[in-house]
Amino acid sequence: MAGLKITGWGTALPERVVTNEELAKQVDTNDEWISDRTGISERRIGGTTAGLGADAGRMAMERAGVDPSSIDLLILATTTPDRRVPATASTIQHQLGLDCGAFDLNAACSGFMYGLTAAHGFMRAGMERILIIGAETLSVITDWTDRNTCILFADGAGAVVVDRTEDDGDVLGFSLSSDGSLEDVLYCDHGGFLEMNGREVFRKAVLVMEKAGREALKQAGLEASDIDHVIPHQANIRIIEASMKRLGIPMDKAIHNLHCTGNTSSASIPLAMVNGIDEGRIHERDLVLMVGFGAGMTSAAAVVRWSVEP
Ligand code: COA
Repeated sequence: MAGLKITGWGTALPERVVTNEELAKQVDTNDEWISDRTGISERRIGGTTAGLGADAGRMAMERAGVDPSSIDLLILATTTPDRRVPATASTIQHQLGLDCGAFDLNAACSGFMYGLTAAHGFMRAGMERILIIGAETLSVITDWTDRNTCILFADGAGAVVVDRTEDDGDVLGFSLSSDGSLEDVLYCDHGGFLEMNGREVFRKAVLVMEKAGREALKQAGLEASDIDHVIPHQANIRIIEASMKRLGIPMDKAIHNLHCTGNTSSASIPLAMVNGIDEGRIHERDLVLMVGFGAGMTSAAAVVRWSVEP
């Protein structure tokens, strides 16, 4: 059966760096507390979702060596579209000179994984090349006077180009879930700011990360011990540590860069993925478990066999 392979990748981060020390001048917090409890030292903010998404998408197409005219579909995972209408995907489609369908997908911080899974299905439906972007400007919906949330969230974008393969492709197994009964633990009303019950999100996140990871592994017919790298959603280093423990995968297999990006929601997994590639950690044939969770509460995981030498 047809599938997809990842052939190009790109990222974009705003220039403006906000350090923990800078936040400590605005709210009652300090660098030591934020670093210890979250693993975050600094984050980037600024720009628009379309601007960041287009920059990451352009880089991904350049790295894949493909022409914008060859893209059949643009999927933008975002929880912070620039406007309510139209979809920010359409703005990016125009900025990149794509001649294809484009839509926004909101599954909160699991968005990029939902996008990858959707692309897998579109390939089986006959498409040839898809650009998947995760892009966010969470700074716009963050209350910078609320120490509960402003220490966590940030802006950025990551993107991949995926090509159709005639064999099963890179995605060996996946899992998607949502539990709307938990919507009040993390939400943002129209015109409002992110509201969060941090302890509850933490507790549930660890459970859904394990469940999603195990389901994707089972579908792939693999064991946790087969996995070479885990690319988890970059929300909190302690959530990553606890999830890795529950999955029975050593922490040194986790790829993380949240110390310098913060939580960028849909952008976080592709940002960490490209970081892992740039550091020379991911190689052809490696088995990678990507697993995310987010408001909803959603979760999403995929086991990917990396098929191109980065
Ligand atoms: N700076 C300094 N102190 C803070 C603080 C801050 N930003 N936020 C809370 N505190 C204090 C509390 O007042 C409390 O003090 P007390 O013990 O004197 O009462 C203490 O630190 C512990 O608070 P608590 O809320 O239990 O902290 P925590 O260990 O749960 O950490 C989070 C808070 C938000 C970092 C953590 O719960 C978390 O990361 N949750 C998941 C959030 C997440 O990932 N959201 C996105 C999902 S996609």
